[in-house]
Amino acid sequence: MDNSVLIEAQGASLIYRDGERVVRAVDSVSLQVRPSEFVGIVGPSGSGKSSLLYLLSGLKLPTHGAVRYRGRCYTEASDAERSAMRRERFGFVFQQPYLLGYLTVLENVVVGAPDVRAYRERALWLLEQLGLADKAHRYPPALSGGERQRACVARALLLEPEVIFADEPTAALDQQTGLHVLDLLEQHRGNGAVVLVTHDPLMLRYCDTVYKLRSGQVEAVESAPAKPFVRTDSPPTP
Ligand SMILES: Nc1ncnc2c1ncn2[C@@H]1O[C@H](COP(=O)(O)OP(=O)(O)O)[C@@H](O)[C@H]1O
Ligand SMILES: [Mg+2]
Repeated sequence: MDNSVLIEAQGASLIYRDGERVVRAVDSVSLQVRPSEFVGIVGPSGSGKSSLLYLLSGLKLPTHGAVRYRGRCYTEASDAERSAMRRERFGFVFQQPYLLGYLTVLENVVVGAPDVRAYRERALWLLEQLGLADKAHRYPPALSGGERQRACVARALLLEPEVIFADEPTAALDQQTGLHVLDLLEQHRGNGAVVLVTHDPLMLRYCDTVYKLRSGQVEAVESAPAKPFVRTDSPPTP
């Protein structure tokens, strides 16, 4: 197996059938995500960005072509295997922040951890980094949309996943907070890759590779010159 490739899409398509209507949301996309790579996916609304993210993360299976994670084809894996992969190896930040209303912010951040106590300190550190230290013991309904989104970012980063999939994670944030979230994603890539969907060119500053989508197809690929990764801090890990 080629260890320099984490995720590979080969001629992957996702076709939705909506009554009579057939929508080619993703149309024969081939791309690779490497370990520690920061990948951007851009394109107009409806160009298939979210659908491509679902394919790359195994949330949806391609109707044609193949998507593999470390050589394992999602289509050949059972639902249980795919959900275990997502739980153990991936972190997600969706466009709509989703938190459990009956848990505090801190509890929401650690809820997926194998050992909740062991990860408490790292969760508090992440919340502090995201400007939410004083909100850790509040419940999500008492937070603004932007604060909820940042809590979701902390949750996605908690277990230092191999890949973070982020779908417009900064859309609900003011520019300064958005850039701060981006900095945290950039710090993360010492541990794993980042796949970021955005329509904001400012958010592409750390991307190694940017795929431009149009009507489900890759219209252009832009690569930044390779730069060495330098870790600037050492966040607490259990
Ligand atoms: N569940 C669905 N059923 C039918 N069509 C869908 C569904 N989800 C998305 N689409 C269509 O697929 C296309 C791509 O959608 P999407 O991946 O959400 O694009 P983007 O994230 O770039 O806005 C759009 O035309 C959208 O209307
Ligand atoms: Mg979308």
